[in-house]
Amino acid sequence: MDCKLNPTKLKNAQKALLGWYAIYGRHHLPWRDRLAPNRAYRVLISEIMLQQTQVKAVLEHFYFPFLERFPNLHSLSEANVSEVLHAWQGLGYYSRARNLHKLAQICIHNSKTSTLAPQGRENPLPCDIYLLRKLPGIGAYTAGAIACFGFDLPVSFVDSNIKRILLRLFALHSATPSLLESKAKSILNFQEPFNHNQALLDLGALLCLPKSPKCGDCPLSGCCLGKENWQDFTQSKSMQTTKKTLHYGIFIQDSTIALLKSNEKLYFGLYNFPQIPLSLIKSSQKLGILKHSYTKYNLETEIYLCPLMASDFLNKDSLEFFTRDSLESLPLSALSLKILKFLRTKGLF
Ligand code: ADE
Repeated sequence: MDCKLNPTKLKNAQKALLGWYAIYGRHHLPWRDRLAPNRAYRVLISEIMLQQTQVKAVLEHFYFPFLERFPNLHSLSEANVSEVLHAWQGLGYYSRARNLHKLAQICIHNSKTSTLAPQGRENPLPCDIYLLRKLPGIGAYTAGAIACFGFDLPVSFVDSNIKRILLRLFALHSATPSLLESKAKSILNFQEPFNHNQALLDLGALLCLPKSPKCGDCPLSGCCLGKENWQDFTQSKSMQTTKKTLHYGIFIQDSTIALLKSNEKLYFGLYNFPQIPLSLIKSSQKLGILKHSYTKYNLETEIYLCPLMASDFLNKDSLEFFTRDSLESLPLSALSLKILKFLRTKGLF
């Protein structure tokens, strides 16, 4: 019953998938609005945000404010990177924001120098997956998603949800990326690529779940080779988490608070509270412990109110003092925002 080997079954499965999507699909997601102006740009922003952040969080907190601040590639390319980081605040994985900024500058530059500017001056984003893949932060999945969802092109692509569907549908214990890509292509609906691919994303998010798939409701169950023993065709998430304890120092001087601009790869350009050495902990007041997870780390962060003169211990060049108001426009890491909120509950800043 392999979908690839039986064109009639494939057609039926595609039809069933679209029928299911018409009723149960998440059509309200704003980046699925095919009539929206600057559609490809909106798809780009949503896809980059959705790479590591849940749909609910992107929808409720980040997508609209970012578009309001940067409505098109032009405005994004003209911003400075700290403004983009500020708009990305709370989303984490800040290399995404830096890459997006670089991408906008490259596309705008190309549109000015090329006689083949893709489609107008407002959003000169390429629609070709090979050109898209050359841009910073764009991998195979994102290039395919932009081409299909932004430009209606008939391309297939594989993310972790689609991968799970394909492993089960074709009863594969494991698969290389190229095998998965060819399986995705083998079931692509060339007449309705947009709805087909959005439907697969919804199927993965709503029915073909990692731990308890709802096979009884699935429009593809008629041709799913793995449905009887789906556990055998499910790859476990292998991200190992690491516990870590960090010690942060709070230095307050005349209603200003000390922060450090980070040079670390993950946090580059963002402001953080300074970490303090064990020697300083002894002469500081422990305010509490905050839990925070970041990439593969489960952090326990101990927060200390430090004597001001101890700030001499730290690298004076990069330690800067800010008023509460000036923090509003500063790109802060999610952990720093959490610490600020904590300080406020303590009435400290
Ligand atoms: N995750 C990545 N792209 C998505 C989309 N278009 N809809 C829902 N979730 C997604």
